[in-house]
Amino acid sequence: MKTEGQLKLEWARDHMPVCNEIRRRFVKEVPFKGIKISMALHVEAKTGVLALLLKEGGAEISLASCNPLSSDDSVVLALKEIHSLNVYAKKGIDDATYYEFLNKTLDLNPDIVIDDGADLVNLLHTKRKDASGNIIGGNEETTTGVVRLRAMEKQGVLKFPMIDVNDAMMKHLFDNRYGTGQSTLDGFMHATNLLIAGKRVTVAGYGYCGRGIAMRMRGMGGIVTVTEVDPVKAVEAVMDGFNVSTMNDSIRDADIVVTATGMKEVVTYQDMLVAKDGVVLCNAGHFNNEISVAQLEEKSMWKGEVRNEVRRYRLDNGNTVNLISDGRLVNLASGQGHPVEIMDMSFAIQALSAEFLLKNHKKMTNKVYSVPREIDLAVASVKIGSLGTKIDSLTKSQMEYLDSWGEGT
Ligand code: ADE
Repeated sequence: MKTEGQLKLEWARDHMPVCNEIRRRFVKEVPFKGIKISMALHVEAKTGVLALLLKEGGAEISLASCNPLSSDDSVVLALKEIHSLNVYAKKGIDDATYYEFLNKTLDLNPDIVIDDGADLVNLLHTKRKDASGNIIGGNEETTTGVVRLRAMEKQGVLKFPMIDVNDAMMKHLFDNRYGTGQSTLDGFMHATNLLIAGKRVTVAGYGYCGRGIAMRMRGMGGIVTVTEVDPVKAVEAVMDGFNVSTMNDSIRDADIVVTATGMKEVVTYQDMLVAKDGVVLCNAGHFNNEISVAQLEEKSMWKGEVRNEVRRYRLDNGNTVNLISDGRLVNLASGQGHPVEIMDMSFAIQALSAEFLLKNHKKMTNKVYSVPREIDLAVASVKIGSLGTKIDSLTKSQMEYLDSWGEGT
């Protein structure tokens, strides 16, 4: 009988047509023969599909979790026992074990790193310089990781080229928006079993993740207020029909607050003190510093588990605050991560970017690179085909029209 993890991997693979097309080519061409890849990603079924795809493409893989709460242990087991993959991940590990696992994955002395949040790259530049000898470059999955890499590039310390996978259109337009939109609601609903319809929901951040969450919360009947620091995004939120306000104002009557900013201290203890009694707080950003959990831990009068993934705190004003999954990213810590068809595109970009890096690293310098447009278009073409949808193409005369600048007739 198949194990739970095996079934999850198979289900994911069955719904990842773009990755499957890449796999068929990689099996024939074996582009990663002799290449070692260390990965730090959320270790769940879709990630397993990517790791196995790269392995079938010839790579030696070592995979660790990029978050202490996001691993699916049944998938970890299947990857290790059925697929003989080196995996270092377990749900609910402490910080020390988290770093121990990242270190173990670097013991491979990788040629390529695939990172989500840039902790692996950070280690290679600090405590694990010893493991960076073979590195030709890497890929970064998420906005927060790219912000860190760009800071390293700006300071001139980045030691190898990194590809900003998040920048690909077929990544951020879908993963950040529709992926985070659906998986955040999935995580919230799973953790709380509460209704969204009729609730006042504050969404912090109106980047692609925030707008996905705001859109889906509204779709479920939530009355949504957006908070922003960027006036352009704030205007967009207004014109998309959302209330826009500050955190300290909107939290006063919010039933649910979701952060998706990539910034620290977005919901502070001062905000919690003016919040409605019983507010539910959760975070969909990469790190658990968007909600000031440390202050909550330090200053609250009482805390207790009220559901598997919800902790209640009593503040010194007598009100309570409910926090989901320690303020760690709710869509993975309490949900199942992004939908499979979304990760199909994100991980197709990852696989093709790793191949690009392998073929082009000699021409690349120690910078953060965008994903080449051809990769974006290749992924889009396979995806649109897999959706059973046909699109038009330009005729020769239309192409010529694009190049013409004469009279506009
Ligand atoms: N599943 C695997 N990686 C993920 C990510 N970065 N976001 C959401 N779901 C995921």
